[in-house]
Amino acid sequence: MRALVIGGSGQVGAALEGILVARGHTAVATHHRVPQPGTVQLDVRDEAATARLMTDAAPDVVFCPAGLTVVDYCEDHPDEAFQANCEAPARAAALAAERGAAFVFFSTEYVFDGRDGPYGEDDPVAPLSVYGRSKLDGERAVMAANARALVVRTTVVYGPEPQGKNFIYQLRRRAAAGEPLKVPADQRSSPTFNVDLAAATIDLVERAARGVVHVAGPSVIDRYAFARMACDVFALDARLVVPVMTADLQQRAARPLNAGLRIERVRRQIATPLRDPAAGLAAMRATLGARVVDTTRGHR
Ligand SMILES: NC(=O)c1ccc[n+]([C@@H]2O[C@H](COP(=O)([O-])OP(=O)(O)OC[C@H]3O[C@@H](n4cnc5c(N)ncnc54)[C@H](OP(=O)(O)O)[C@@H]3O)[C@@H](O)[C@H]2O)c1
Repeated sequence: MRALVIGGSGQVGAALEGILVARGHTAVATHHRVPQPGTVQLDVRDEAATARLMTDAAPDVVFCPAGLTVVDYCEDHPDEAFQANCEAPARAAALAAERGAAFVFFSTEYVFDGRDGPYGEDDPVAPLSVYGRSKLDGERAVMAANARALVVRTTVVYGPEPQGKNFIYQLRRRAAAGEPLKVPADQRSSPTFNVDLAAATIDLVERAARGVVHVAGPSVIDRYAFARMACDVFALDARLVVPVMTADLQQRAARPLNAGLRIERVRRQIATPLRDPAAGLAAMRATLGARVVDTTRGHR
């Protein structure tokens, strides 16, 4: 297939590009602010530029992991959040449809309120935050704009990534500096290895899947337990991980607490492994090497 990955400089996009290329597909990947080797610049909010790139790349499928993902920033900047997470992806999905291309949008478990997770695809949505609402509106708008749209909901993504931003990199940097890190012990979710997420998404596209599909790790655990596992795998001082309650963190946006995603639907459609955190973290460690601190960034 010919693929366009909008947001190829992020942790999901880079994993998508790597697997597409490894499988012999053609992939054009974009960055917005942080170039990576081989990426082309695109602000997906610029409709004319997005249309030009789609015409040039002539994709069969457009993957769109691009988005405004900083949940607390979104809470204070709703217009920006809705533009990045709903309006721009919907326009891109329409441009893809005009060119006969499928469109893959990445959404989140934050469309749920976290009262009684883990959640299936058809469970009632009730986002608590601007980020969650912008993604939910994005899901609906993308599916209205492109009959071949696939919406992949995921959560707590970790793994090797070019910008070294995700929670595991933060934990390693804090531990290397000997600084404690407060981690909520009352947020339950399904940590998801980015390589598995990318492989499963491509497998779904290869089977022409559409509609909403949850793609996440198989275990529902709290963030503190996940951090402790990462300390074990990366040989970090677990005493630096301090369990706290979400309410004590005084975050701008409310979080779903008892969340997590059920993955029966994806498992009925494809056999792609979705590793539990112990296996995913071990694979991440193998990719990054045995270094205790990753200060270089730039893994791809
Ligand atoms: N990470 C998670 O735990 C998680 C959980 C649930 C859902 N998701 C969803 O999964 C998707 C991918 O997440 P991620 O972790 O890969 O995020 P990420 O690492 O922050 O990557 C975001 C990507 O979007 C690009 N981007 C941002 N604004 C853009 C714009 N205006 N135009 C074009 N590209 C833009 C970024 O480019 P630059 O970096 O070059 O600026 C980057 O490539 C997101 O939509 C997110 O909502 C993620």
